[in-house]
Amino acid sequence: MEEFDIIDMDNVSLKREDGGSYMSKKLVIKRCPKCMAMVKVMKENDSEIMCCGKAMEELVPNVVEASFEKHVPNYLIKDGKIIVTVNHVMEDDHYIEWICMCSGNKEFVVYFEPGDVLEAEFTYMPGAILYAYCNKHLLWKKEVE
Ligand SMILES: [Fe+2]
Repeated sequence: MEEFDIIDMDNVSLKREDGGSYMSKKLVIKRCPKCMAMVKVMKENDSEIMCCGKAMEELVPNVVEASFEKHVPNYLIKDGKIIVTVNHVMEDDHYIEWICMCSGNKEFVVYFEPGDVLEAEFTYMPGAILYAYCNKHLLWKKEVE
């Protein structure tokens, strides 16, 4: 018997009242260049976000693997779910700290610790953007087809 992806569109809610659809919002993460504290920006304006007396810097996600280590998220769509993995170590000093899926007007984040199984499961939504954050190699992204 063949398997089909079943999507309950009533639970996706990407539609706006004017009948349009939301574009997936971009994740904006800023980091202090001194103490490495990180914030998720909920709303931007023209002013800088300061930490340790310095302007926090936006992390620009990488999309192309450039080294032996892999960081771009992989995904599998099955039974209306999207299962996200990263082919990356989960060692004490080098691991994926979180995986995030941005879809329309929604964001979902799963946090990890060293030694965890690196897998995050979300409800599948077309047009989503996946992000993975490595404690050494920073932010990576992949767009879901
Ligand atoms: Fe890494």
